[in-house]
Amino acid sequence: MTQTDKISVPKIIEMKRKGEKIASLTAYDWLLASLLDAAGIDIILVGDSAAMVFAGHDTTLPMTMDQMLYHTRAVTRGVKRALVIADMPFLSFQVTPDQAIENAGRFLQKGRAGGVKIEGGEPMAETIRKITDIGMPVMGHLGLTPQSIQSFGGYRLRGKMEGEAETIKKDAKILEQAGVFAIVLEKIPASLAGEITKSISIPTIGIGAGPDCDGQILVTPDMLGLFESFKPKFVRQYANLAGTIRSAASGFMKDVKSGAYPSKEESF
Ligand code: KIV
Repeated sequence: MTQTDKISVPKIIEMKRKGEKIASLTAYDWLLASLLDAAGIDIILVGDSAAMVFAGHDTTLPMTMDQMLYHTRAVTRGVKRALVIADMPFLSFQVTPDQAIENAGRFLQKGRAGGVKIEGGEPMAETIRKITDIGMPVMGHLGLTPQSIQSFGGYRLRGKMEGEAETIKKDAKILEQAGVFAIVLEKIPASLAGEITKSISIPTIGIGAGPDCDGQILVTPDMLGLFESFKPKFVRQYANLAGTIRSAASGFMKDVKSGAYPSKEESF
């Protein structure tokens, strides 16, 4: 692996220019991150979805900076090629721009991330500008932004109600002007995501936003069939790891109970 093989922020922007789709997945630990990296995934997001799929909370709001830093360090230790982006958790960037700069810096300095992700449109633009102005890459996130779940009142499709689509379109332009290098579009109509993708020069990464985005991201435990609490319509399952793990565990249990494990060969 040479320095030129490493996926950088300019390379991600270049992929849009060349019409090359961007494949992105989430990871929260060293082991999974190293497997995704070896498979050639372009962007690995240390998502605050860890609150739900790793820690078992029912929203992403309980995630803290220290917890996200722990996950980010574990992921970056396992990644050689992919661009690793750390998700800024609830209340780590909304209080003041200074707080946001300092916390973004912690992800780059202590977490060794290649950039951060920040949820929200126009209200976050000034903060994002300050972070990008000092050379820290920011990925935006519009549409269904899970940190606003209490005001949304649920995980419904965004951008369908009167005025919502216009706001999301306007926010995408504002984020581009604020210097973000890419924007996650979550759970919005495919036609709206397609329109936004055409209207900006930076890549859009869709999750439940149809095929016309410049890239796609899924929460890895969802696409591996590992997280079974709920399955959104946009998730495609590429494996059934929950079933595989249950049957491995019950095979082990049967062998232990019957005395079939360990064998002579597995003993010293
Ligand atoms: O936290 C996360 O995993 C995310 C993705 C759903 C984009 O923000």
